[in-house]
Amino acid sequence: MTLKAVVTGCGSYLPPDVMTNHDLSAIVETSDEWIRERTGIRERHIAGDDQRTSDLGVEAAKKALAAAGRSPADVDLIIVATTTPDLTFPSTAAIIQAKLGAPAATAFDIQAVCTGFVYAVGTAQKFLASGQHKCALVIGAETFSRILDWSDRTTCVLFGDGAGAFIIEAMDEGDANGRGIMASFLRCDGRMADLLYVDGGVSATQTTGHVRMQGNKVFREAIERISAAMLAVAEEAKVDPRSIDWFVPHQANERIIHGVVKKLDLRPDQVISTIARHGNTSAASIPLAFCEGVEDGRIKRGDLVMLEGMGGGLTWGAALLRV
Ligand code: ACO
Repeated sequence: MTLKAVVTGCGSYLPPDVMTNHDLSAIVETSDEWIRERTGIRERHIAGDDQRTSDLGVEAAKKALAAAGRSPADVDLIIVATTTPDLTFPSTAAIIQAKLGAPAATAFDIQAVCTGFVYAVGTAQKFLASGQHKCALVIGAETFSRILDWSDRTTCVLFGDGAGAFIIEAMDEGDANGRGIMASFLRCDGRMADLLYVDGGVSATQTTGHVRMQGNKVFREAIERISAAMLAVAEEAKVDPRSIDWFVPHQANERIIHGVVKKLDLRPDQVISTIARHGNTSAASIPLAFCEGVEDGRIKRGDLVMLEGMGGGLTWGAALLRV
C-alpha cells in the first residue's frame, strides 16, 4: 500500500500589534520609500510582551485542526519550525503539545531558519509515508522581533512575527485521488553560514544574540538556488513547472520573488504574496501566505502548489503538493 501525505487543513495567526515603516523611521534612519522599494514591505506584526512563539503556534494550530475537522487527540506527530523557541529546551513542539492538550506522541523542533517550514513539510511527508504516523501538525512560528538589533536598519526593517500551521494526514494513494505532497528538496551549505546568522547562542555566548546579515550577498544567491530547488521538485514529481497553479514563496523580498517568477516563466498573478503586510516572518511566512490563499478562495482542492524557502545556513528548498 502506498501512502500519500495530504494537507487536510491550515490555519494562521498574526499578533494584533502592527508596526509600519513610518513607525520604524522614528527608531532608525530609514524611510517608508526605501523599505517599500527595496523589499515590498509596508508593515509587520509584532508579538506582545506576553506572547511567546508557542502562543502564536497554538492559535494557528487550533485553526488548522478546525479546518481539517480534527482534534488534538488525533495528532500523533508535531513538528515546529522555529528559530525563536520559547526556551532552549524543551522544544516548542513539546510546549505546544501540552498547551493543546494533545496526547503523548512524536514532537520536535526543526531549525532551518527561513527554510524551516519547507524542511518541516518534507520531514512530515517522510514520517507519514512510512506508515508509522497518521496525523501530523506542522507549524512555522516565530517571534523574530526578539532577536532583532533595533539599532541596525539593515535588518530590523525586514522581519515580523506570526505563525501558520498545516494538518497533514496519511492517506492511501487510492483515496488521496492525486492529492498530497509530491516531492521535496532540502539543502544546506554551511560554508555560507557567515552571510546570515545570529551572533549569540547557548554554547557560544550564553546569550540569545541578534540577527546579522550580509543582505546583498544573500540576495545574489537567492534567485538561482530557489529556482534550482523548484525545478528539482518539479522534475521529481514529473510536472512542468509552468503547470503549477499557485506559487507560495518564502516572503523575504518582493524583488527575489519577482526574479524567480521571471526565471521560471511563471505569471505574477500565480504568486500568493503577503510580504507587504507581514514582512519576513521566517519559518511562518509560507503557511501564513498559503492560508491566506485558501481562506480567500484562490487555492482550491486539486490545485498544484509550489512552496519554496531560503534562509540562514544557508538553507534552501522547495516542496510541491496537490491540495
Ligand atoms: N533604510 C535606508 N537605507 C538602508 C537601509 C534602510 N533600512 N538598510 C540599508 N540601507 C542602505 C545601506 O546602508 C546602503 O547604503 P550605502 O550604499 O550608502 O552603503 C544602501 O542602503 C544599499 O544597501 P544594500 O544592502 O546593498 O541594499 P539591497 O538593495 O541589497 O537591499 C536587502 C537590502 C533588502 C536586505 C536585500 O539585500 C535582501 O533582501 N537580501 C536578501 C535577504 C534574504 O533573503 N534573507 C534570507 C531570509 S532571512 C533568514 O533566513 C533569517
